[in-house]
Amino acid sequence: MTQDELKQAAAAAAIDDIKPLLLADAVIGIGTGSTVNRFIDLLAGSRHLFRGAVASSQATTARLKANGIEVFELNHVGSVPVYIDGADEINHHLQMIKGGGGALTREKIIAACAERFVCIADASKRVQLLGGFPLPIEVIPMARSYVARELVKLGFNPIYRDGVVTDNGNQILDCHGLMLEDPRHTESELNNIVGVVTNGLFARRPADVLLLAGEDGVSRFTH
Ligand code: 5RP
Repeated sequence: MTQDELKQAAAAAAIDDIKPLLLADAVIGIGTGSTVNRFIDLLAGSRHLFRGAVASSQATTARLKANGIEVFELNHVGSVPVYIDGADEINHHLQMIKGGGGALTREKIIAACAERFVCIADASKRVQLLGGFPLPIEVIPMARSYVARELVKLGFNPIYRDGVVTDNGNQILDCHGLMLEDPRHTESELNNIVGVVTNGLFARRPADVLLLAGEDGVSRFTH
């Protein structure tokens, strides 16, 4: 199977997985990326079952609306029963690196609000140790050079994602070549640098469910 077919299989499994949560008053959280795009297109077939969605990016907002799914401001929503999103890497504790698409901050905010985080991914995303995929850090633009110097002092190797402006008007530094033995510690350490908005480690709020598509079908993992 191709990676695209595996992403499609994970997305389809997520529709079945969250169906019991698609209730008339439910506003669900939707992440960003190519796997999630497949999920949104499938979700359109069930749009009559639930109220709408909160989106982690402008791109996702546009795709949801194009599929006839109403999009709400997070501030206007009382609870988010479930959040569905992809990952760039995910380990056996369901901790992730996210933000390859630059939407990490809004993704983290919705994940924090959500009662359940369902991660959908193809098998290539599963790793023993997080850090092979460059770890994104969203920074306030005027702090970019300062944050980069602080990262170097801490032993990181940051590279400016040139030309990228996030939906929040910020910039991204990607930290390459990591082997993260203690992702919870690293997540907090990076967030303590002044000028960092957030980083793409989802270790303190990992996924609750992983739907991982491989050659033998979709496996469901929980804690
Ligand atoms: C975007 C993300 C995505 O979830 C991550 O990049 C995975 O994307 P894809 O499903 O396209 O592989 O964190 O900011």
